[in-house]
This record gives sequence, structure tokens and C-alpha cells, in this order.
Amino acid sequence: MIYLDNGATSFPKPECVCNAMAEAMQTCANPGRGSHEAARAGAEMLYDCREAAGELFRCLPEQVVFTMNCTQGLNMALRTLVKPGTKVVISGFEHNAVTRTLYGLGARVLVAGHRLFDQEDTLRSFYKALQQGARVAVFTHVSNVFGYILPIEEMARACIRRGIPFVIDAAQSAGALPIDFRTLGADFIAMPGHKGLLGPMGTGILLCKRLPKPLIMGGTGSESARQQMPDFLPDRAEAGTANVPGIAGLGAGIRYVMEKTPAAIGIHEQKTAAKAVRILKDLGMEVFSGPHQLGTVSFRCGLDCETAALALAQEDIAVRAGLHCAPLAHKSAGTLDTGTVRLSFGHDASVEHLQALQETVQKRLPPVM
Ligand code: ALA
Repeated sequence: MIYLDNGATSFPKPECVCNAMAEAMQTCANPGRGSHEAARAGAEMLYDCREAAGELFRCLPEQVVFTMNCTQGLNMALRTLVKPGTKVVISGFEHNAVTRTLYGLGARVLVAGHRLFDQEDTLRSFYKALQQGARVAVFTHVSNVFGYILPIEEMARACIRRGIPFVIDAAQSAGALPIDFRTLGADFIAMPGHKGLLGPMGTGILLCKRLPKPLIMGGTGSESARQQMPDFLPDRAEAGTANVPGIAGLGAGIRYVMEKTPAAIGIHEQKTAAKAVRILKDLGMEVFSGPHQLGTVSFRCGLDCETAALALAQEDIAVRAGLHCAPLAHKSAGTLDTGTVRLSFGHDASVEHLQALQETVQKRLPPVM
């Protein structure tokens, strides 16, 4: 299979990730719940992953909270900062993980910046929304539909100047772009473990500058006589038994990424995506491309996008079609009524991927009318 759906999850996982998971299942018991060797092995394994993440994202290991995915991290962050009626500014490229959560919390949402690949427009609209009294900001680093890289450093600085707490959704960038938690100064950065960090599905990370409001409460293996959740990290945010094999895999994935470096992975994905853009345009597809684009490319052809994705799947090319759980991003790009076909390249993108794409699109997808 030619797998071009890394925006959904990276696949297949590196061998070191699979091995680490298998080893954890045979050597680790419940961390923090016993002083025997297997429980200690579990605790050490968890700490090892926290330490690796802290090194990669420049924060303390304690600031690394394990979640089951990026959505869970975003929920925890937004529930900490947003109350009914809070004015929240978001970009025009947010995922339902942000928009549905804000809707559910009763936030007053200001959407800033709809123009794809136009960082100046994003910034102008964002500054304006801050002036209109936004009290919290949430923005994605990279659009999961179009690969647009938002100017998060400038957005972060604007929030800090005004004392506005902010959350970054690094769902599509963690592992593929450098992220420096300390310099960005975000209150929270949420990310999946199973995309660019190459861990298994069911893993995620929330980087915390402040204490989050716990999403779930229960045993932590610490301060057990108290009936309140601990007021220190990471215990406050991690009730119940951890996903030990998953986190073992995530730790191996993070170390694999650190060796390659996110900057090098990102450049590789970007270059591959630029070549894919050229191929698709030459074949008459309508392609959404521009500057500041990572390894994700959306396009439309002469078939509806679901039929097109099925045709590609029949030729063993894996892509994702539709709205990609991000109707706001499609609304911004003017593709809400049709959706798009999305290609998302990973760290292992290759010339063979591009060749297969070129041959199959030519064979199966008619150009736009
Ligand atoms: N949010 C993921 C995607 O973009 C699942 O496909």
C-alpha cells in the first residue's frame, strides 16, 4: 500500500516502536502502584518518555501530561481556560476538536483569518480579534486539511503582550516542525502521540505551563489519603492506570524523531508535497497550494471526493476525503460543499509514493471540468 494518510495517523510505525510496546507488555506492571520490580519498570518507562518529550519540546518532564489523543488534551486545556460566555479567538482553520469543545463550553467565538497560506491575513485578523476583547486564544499550528503553517510565533507574542492565555493545537506539526514550549510561552500545547511522533494510536501529550482542570478524577498513586486531586503535575491530570505499552511506543517514536530531527522531517515532507502539487496540477486537478505549506495537500478532481478516494484505495493508495473533521477550514477555503481529497505525507515519503500517485491519478481521476 502507498500510505498517504499521515494526517490521520502515521503508518506503519517504525519497528523500534512495535518492539518497545511488546517489551513493555512483558516487563512493566502498574507504575506508581507498587515497589516491586515490574511496577518500578513501568514507572521508569513512563518517566523515560516524559523526559524525551521534555527534551524535544524544551520543557520539564513534569509538564508533559499523557493523554489518549490530541482531542483529550485540547478538552483539558479549554475546560481550564474557558467558561460560558468567554470570548475566544480561533483561527479560520481549526478542527472540530477545538470548535465543538468551545461550542459545548458556551464560548463566544471570534474567527480570525480565512485566507489560505496568507500569514499576513491571519495575523491582521488575529490582532483585530485581540483588540475586540478576546480573553483566550486557540490556534492550530498547521491545518490538517491544507497543510497551511500558521505564524504561531507572532500569534504567541501578541497574546503574551496582552496577557491573554493561549493554547496551540500541534496535531499536525509535532514531530514535523520544531516546537519550543518555553519560547512560545503557551499555557498549553496539545498534540497526538500517533501522528508525527510515530507512537501508537491512543496516545497523546498535553504540555502544561499551568495546572489544568482534571478531565477525570481518581487514583494517582500519590497523596492517596486526600480526597482532592493532587495539585501538582503530572498527577493532577493523569488519574487511573496509564497506557503503559502505548507510552513505551510513544517514547521510542519520540527518540526516533529526535534522531532524524523534526526540522529535517518537515523539510522532507514539504519538498515531497511540493512535488505532489506539481504532479496534480499537471494532471488537471484543482490543487490547494501556497507558501507556508507542510506535507499535506488537498485537491479536487472531476469526481466527487469520496468516489475519488475510493478509486485511489482500489489501486492501493490510502488518502482521506471529505471534510476531515474540520468544516471551518473548508468553509475558509470555499470547499465546504464538496470537501477535498487529502494527501498527507510522512517522514517516510519517497519517490515511489510520488510515482504511484502520478500513475494512479492519471489512470483513475478525471481532471476538473
Ligand atoms: N484529525 C485527523 C485527520 O485530520 C484524524 O485526519
